[in-house]
Amino acid sequence: MKKVTVSAPGKLHLSGEHAVVYGKPALVVATSLRLYTTLETGAGATLLRKMRKNDRYIEAISAAFEKKYGASIKDDVGITITSSIPIGSGMGSSSALAVSLSGALCVWHGMPWNPQAVNDIAYQAEKTIYKGSSGSDPAVSTHGGILWYRKELEFLKTLWLLPFKIPKTFAPFVLINTGRKESTGDLVAHVGEGKKRDEKKFAVLLDAVEKVTKQTAQSIHDEDEKGFRRSISENEQYLEEMGIVSAPVRAFIRAVEEAGGVAKISGAGGIQTGSGVVVAIHDTAQKIIALAKKRKYETFQVVLGGEGVKMEQATA
Ligand code: MEV
Repeated sequence: MKKVTVSAPGKLHLSGEHAVVYGKPALVVATSLRLYTTLETGAGATLLRKMRKNDRYIEAISAAFEKKYGASIKDDVGITITSSIPIGSGMGSSSALAVSLSGALCVWHGMPWNPQAVNDIAYQAEKTIYKGSSGSDPAVSTHGGILWYRKELEFLKTLWLLPFKIPKTFAPFVLINTGRKESTGDLVAHVGEGKKRDEKKFAVLLDAVEKVTKQTAQSIHDEDEKGFRRSISENEQYLEEMGIVSAPVRAFIRAVEEAGGVAKISGAGGIQTGSGVVVAIHDTAQKIIALAKKRKYETFQVVLGGEGVKMEQATA
């Protein structure tokens, strides 16, 4: 029985989310949470052909693969997807799906293993969900590690895999899932409307975000935890100015700050209820966990700097 499994990681934006849509850099890190796509022949799995009909995103990924390689996917391919990445929370679950499925399709069809091609397919698919995608999510899911990413032009994206890790001396990050109602596309559009209302103010905000993204990278490089925490806090203020942090999440972040920690949303955010995943740091992680528990938010910890897209198995 022919069987192919390819996995891809979720991500966190340490800095630069939304600003990256407008050509500013983002600092993104792959996590240890992964999504696995298995393609196989034989009974048991749902047919990809069927899934393509019912799921626009699966269709977009499959069609982007077919377009890139001028191939057509055979009728008898079965598909199974398993994932530990929370869905719709800013942790890159949809990009991980696009990256792992396009990787699996490439292996299934005997294409050479080419992460850049996998990334291109995933990026094309992501743009069918929201046009303005910067491509930072598929890029970090493809390449892993800590990525400095910038979309200069539609056809020119610069990415630099930072040759260092989050220092072990830094207190571990606590992640809090605050949930959210809006899609990434809604939130990107919301920020776009704010930009249109006051272009001058937005340009100043974008420059400030770029500066803090550089400070964040510098502080990781210098193993300067104080500077890193300052950058996280400053970054959160700018995200709040963009209007994509909900009132309850702002209140939660203020409570973390009052308790002596720092926190920021990570990813697209959220306006009505929750704002997706929040990254929080405190010398005593338990303090954050207690504050989150009070609000019935789920907390978890992940290892940062995970491996990018990976061929897990391929049997002919
Ligand atoms: C979403 O994970 C990150 C955003 O910056 C959108 C994008 O980069 O395409 C909000």
